[in-house]
Amino acid sequence: MEGRRRGGGGGAGVCAGAGAMSLKCAFSLLLLVLALCGRGATGLDADGELLMAFRRAVTADPLGALRGWSYSDDSACAWNGVICNGFPQPQQASTVNLTSVSAADGSGSGNGNFSTLAGGRANGTLLGLNASMAAATVSRVIGLVLPGAQLSGSLPAELARVEHLRHLDLSGNGLNGTLPAALLLNATELRVLSLAGNDLSGALPDASYARGLQELNLSDNALAGWLPASLLRAPGLAVLGLANNYLAGELPAGGLGGLEVVDLSNNYFRGALPADFGGTQLRFLNVSSNSLTGALPADLSDVVPANTSVDLSNNNFTGAVPPAGPFAAQPASAYEGNPGLCGPPLKHACSIPSSLSNPPNATDSPPAFAAIPKSAAASAPPPYQAPECLKSLRPNAKWDVYSFGMVLLELLSGRVYSEVELCQWHAGAVDVQRGRVLRMADPTLRGEAADAGGEDALLGCFRLAFACCAMAPGKRPAMRDAAALLDRIQPTPSSASSAIETPPY
Ligand SMILES: *[C@@H]1O[C@H](CO)[C@@H](O)[C@H](O)[C@H]1NC(C)=O
Ligand SMILES: *[C@@H]1O[C@H](CO)[C@@H](O)[C@H](O)[C@H]1NC(C)=O
Ligand SMILES: *[C@@H]1O[C@H](CO)[C@@H](O)[C@H](O)[C@H]1NC(C)=O
Ligand SMILES: *[C@@H]1O[C@H](CO)[C@@H](O)[C@H](O)[C@H]1NC(C)=O
Ligand SMILES: *[C@@H]1O[C@H](CO)[C@@H](O)[C@H](O)[C@H]1NC(C)=O
Ligand SMILES: *[C@@H]1O[C@H](CO)[C@@H](O)[C@H](O)[C@H]1NC(C)=O
Ligand SMILES: *[C@@H]1O[C@H](CO)[C@@H](O)[C@H](O)[C@H]1NC(C)=O
Ligand SMILES: *[C@@H]1O[C@H](CO)[C@@H](O)[C@H](O)[C@H]1NC(C)=O
Ligand SMILES: *[C@@H]1O[C@H](CO)[C@@H](O)[C@H](O)[C@H]1NC(C)=O
Ligand SMILES: *[C@@H]1O[C@H](CO)[C@@H](O)[C@H](O)[C@H]1NC(C)=O
Ligand SMILES: *[C@@H]1O[C@H](CO)[C@@H](O)[C@H](O)[C@H]1NC(C)=O
Repeated sequence: MEGRRRGGGGGAGVCAGAGAMSLKCAFSLLLLVLALCGRGATGLDADGELLMAFRRAVTADPLGALRGWSYSDDSACAWNGVICNGFPQPQQASTVNLTSVSAADGSGSGNGNFSTLAGGRANGTLLGLNASMAAATVSRVIGLVLPGAQLSGSLPAELARVEHLRHLDLSGNGLNGTLPAALLLNATELRVLSLAGNDLSGALPDASYARGLQELNLSDNALAGWLPASLLRAPGLAVLGLANNYLAGELPAGGLGGLEVVDLSNNYFRGALPADFGGTQLRFLNVSSNSLTGALPADLSDVVPANTSVDLSNNNFTGAVPPAGPFAAQPASAYEGNPGLCGPPLKHACSIPSSLSNPPNATDSPPAFAAIPKSAAASAPPPYQAPECLKSLRPNAKWDVYSFGMVLLELLSGRVYSEVELCQWHAGAVDVQRGRVLRMADPTLRGEAADAGGEDALLGCFRLAFACCAMAPGKRPAMRDAAALLDRIQPTPSSASSAIETPPY
């Protein structure tokens, strides 16, 4: 498709059909060469001139990548790193009339008049010349591809004026200075621009980006400023690499247009992820290692395809991971480094109160409650929540035991106990302070217990409740044992007291 090709390649067979080289033939050849290289007399063509501006801007070329670039060439097409393609010559018809060519392109004639010189006999067809192809196309620069060439210097805006430039890859060099806005806005045929891995500074222009731009990779540079919404809306853009720069500010709303690959990782973006930060074509989105905050908008799963790979790690996102779309499908690593996040792929369920100012560290403990987020501990109001669940991410059955004890205590006493109050009690204290514990009981219960001689049963219940509410999770009984104990507590003093005489904790 695209490839190197020198202009005038068809000239070799010009006289093939004319038999022996005649004067007429030689003369015609000369005419042809002059016609094809109309600019020959003035040296390097326009594309070459523009490329030479780049050569001048390069301050160091230790590998000699640009050594062969010279003003003494007619065209840049043989230069290292330069790619050319044939283009139709705008003023010429496909069937060439040498006479009219010469007349039209008199610039190379100096003081001659080709019409006169050629006379009526300089007829290409008569000479066996098939000039149509050779003269109808001209080689133009379409690519400059020199990745990793250790070039230092800057990027001149002249590159944006290489008319047919489609592919510019100068990634992995040492270019610094600003990124010329004209490359993004004015290079109308530019499709691929890769300047990743340089030291380019400056901001991304907020203007109308060139329609042809399909792939823009500016990762690993020193770009600063904001991410312009106009860039995300660039009509043809599919790949956008801006990783590892100094870009800051909030991510613009308005969606990601037709973008397929978006890498914004390792910048200084802050604020929330806009609820429309997606698009139907999106398959890779990396916003890792920024300073993004806030909840992940549930609406995002409507605009980000379910099979998109999303990396949200190392930000400050908080709240629940939406249990739908692409979010449920990511590995936990896509969320790591966001201590405030909880939900589907994560180790911890969203039972941690959102008011927590100091979110706990992630652990790799098994998700005891992940599958049943509406457990007693998770749904219970704060007083019923085990104290350690504020400090540890290891939800376990002991949380439930605590909650059970609190509920039991509330039933027994008719009121809710605070953690501070509970700290004064433990199962063993019940027998020592019998009277005091009985006075804690709900008056109705106390009356009934006194009537039925069930004070020991009541005390047994308190003993169990306190045991379940032990501050140290290890001192709490297993739920199974607690339930069994409760079963055995009977309002018959003898059996009750014997049953709960020796709690195993
Ligand atoms: C070539 O151009 C000349 C001048 O325009 C014209 O008189 C002549 O007929 C043309 N010849 C052909 C073969 O088209
Ligand atoms: C070239 O010669 C032709 C025929 O003699 C004449 O008509 C024409 O004006 C000349 N063109 C130039 C640019 O001198
Ligand atoms: C050029 O060649 C064609 C085809 O042989 C012929 O018809 C035409 O008259 C020639 N023109 C001139 C100016 O000799
Ligand atoms: C010249 O070349 C074109 C295509 O390259 C071909 O179609 C045409 O027939 C050729 N003409 C002559 C006179 O050989
Ligand atoms: C670019 O780098 C050179 C040294 O390689 C330095 O002298 C120059 O100041 C830098 N230019 C900019 C704009 O940073
Ligand atoms: C880009 O093109 C516009 C309009 O053609 C022109 O006004 C502007 O000066 C150009 N910008 C650069 C940096 O060449
Ligand atoms: C940008 O270029 C770098 C270096 O070539 C490459 O590693 C990275 O994957 C590219 N990013 C995108 C989004 O294409
Ligand atoms: C996202 O970007 C970070 C930092 O550039 C990188 O470490 C990580 O591997 C990327 N994520 C994916 C899924 O490629
Ligand atoms: C997250 O927020 C906390 C508290 O506001 C802050 O100390 C921390 O630096 C932030 N982390 C990141 C990665 O922005
Ligand atoms: C994602 O799914 C769409 C259809 O929903 C499919 O066309 C596309 O190929 C998928 N992409 C990947 C990367 O699997
Ligand atoms: C989180 O872990 C770090 C290092 O392991 C530790 O210094 C820090 O105190 C922990 N924070 C909490 C809230 O447990």
